[in-house]
Amino acid sequence: MALSIDQLRKDFPILNRTVHGRPLIYLDNAATSQKPQVVIDALTNYYTQTNANVHRGVHQLSEQATVAFEQSREVIAEFLGLKESRGCIFVRGATEAINLVAETWGRTHLKAGDEIILTALEHHANIVPWQIVAERTGAKILVVPVTAKGELDLVVYQKLLSSKTKLVALSHVSNALGTINPVAQMTKLAKSAGATVLIDGCQAASHFRVDVKALGCDFYCFSGHKTLGPTGIGVLWGRPELLDSLPPYQSGGDMIRKVDFEGTTFREAPERFEAGTPDISGAIGLAVALKYFMSISEVAHTHEQKLLVHATERLRAIKGLKIIGEAAEKVSIISFLIEGSHPHDIGTILDTDGIAIRTGHHCCMPLMKHLGIPGTARASFAFYNTFAEVDQLAISLERIRKMMA
Ligand code: ALA
Repeated sequence: MALSIDQLRKDFPILNRTVHGRPLIYLDNAATSQKPQVVIDALTNYYTQTNANVHRGVHQLSEQATVAFEQSREVIAEFLGLKESRGCIFVRGATEAINLVAETWGRTHLKAGDEIILTALEHHANIVPWQIVAERTGAKILVVPVTAKGELDLVVYQKLLSSKTKLVALSHVSNALGTINPVAQMTKLAKSAGATVLIDGCQAASHFRVDVKALGCDFYCFSGHKTLGPTGIGVLWGRPELLDSLPPYQSGGDMIRKVDFEGTTFREAPERFEAGTPDISGAIGLAVALKYFMSISEVAHTHEQKLLVHATERLRAIKGLKIIGEAAEKVSIISFLIEGSHPHDIGTILDTDGIAIRTGHHCCMPLMKHLGIPGTARASFAFYNTFAEVDQLAISLERIRKMMA
C-alpha cells in the first residue's frame, strides 16, 4: 500500500502540538528536523534496556551496547551507499566533522602557497575552520561565486582550479537558498586538478539518499539532527586509507593501540577518531532515523518537490515578495524577502500564527554580503509538511504584507 503523508505525520508526535493556540506549522526543517516516534523510542529503549559503555566490558550489557553501536555504523554505511563501514566516524555533527578534517588533513597537507577552494554558498562551519588552518599554514582561500539565480559559477570554478589547489570544500546543498550543487561534476574537476574534496552534506542527507562512492569525494559529512535523528550526533565519512594516514584529532581512551610514557600508538579508523566514550544512544537513534528515512525516501522526495513547486507558486503570487535563490535544482527550501518588512518581523508575526520559520543570515554571512542583503526569511519543508500548511503560510504572508504596506 502506498504511504500517505497523513500516515507519516502520525509518526511525529510533536506535530500534534499547538503554538500560541494555533496548530504548529513547522517550516524550520533546515535548522533541525522533527523526530519520529521510532527514534524517540530507540533512545528510551537504549537507556531502559541496554545502557553500558561500549568496547570496554566483558559483561552482557556492554556487549549488547557495543553490538548496537557498531550495527548503527553499518546502517550509516548503507545510507551512504557503502559496502564497508570503516570510514564512517561518529562525531557531534557536521561542524565537528569539518573541524576534524581541517585539524588533521589540513594541518598535515597544507603549506604556504597552497590553495583551498570554497564557495560563496558555504555555511560558516565550512568557512571558519579553513580560515583558521589557512592562517596557520599560509594556504590561501579562493571562493567560487554565485550567480543571481543562486547557482555556483562553474566557469569561474574551472578557472580557479590549478595545480596549487589542494582542497575543494563545498556544500552538497545550500542551507540558505536550497540550491543543489553539481557536486559530482565539481568533484571530478577537482580530482583532475589533483585536489582533495570534502562535501558538507548537511542539507542533502535530510532530503535524499547519498552515494559517496558515485560522488567520488574524499570526505563527506552530515549532522544527525537534520535527518530525523537526535542532536549531538553526526557522521564524517572519509576514504579509510586516507583516514589511517592522518594524525588523531582528539586523544584519550579507545583510540589507542598501546600507551606508554615512552610513546603511544594509535588505532586505525574509525576508532582513531573516536576518543572517549562516544554518544552511544545518539548513534543508535541516528541509525533508527536513517532506516526510517530509507524506507520512505522516495515518497518523501517526491512529496517535497511537489511542496516546493506549490510553495514557489503561492509565494511568487504575493506582491512585493521576492524569492532569493531560484536555482534549477533545489531542495524544498525557500528564502524570501517582502518589500518593507524586516525578515525578523516576518518570523515573529508568523510565530503568532503557529508557523515556525528561520530568519537572518542562516550562518552564511559571506553569501548575504555577496547577494547584497542582510538576511532572508526562510521556509524549509520536510516530507511531513502538507499543501494546507503551505497555503496557510501564504495567507499569513499576505496578511503581513498588507500590515506592513
Ligand atoms: N545550519 C542550520 C540552518 O541552516 C542551523 O538553519
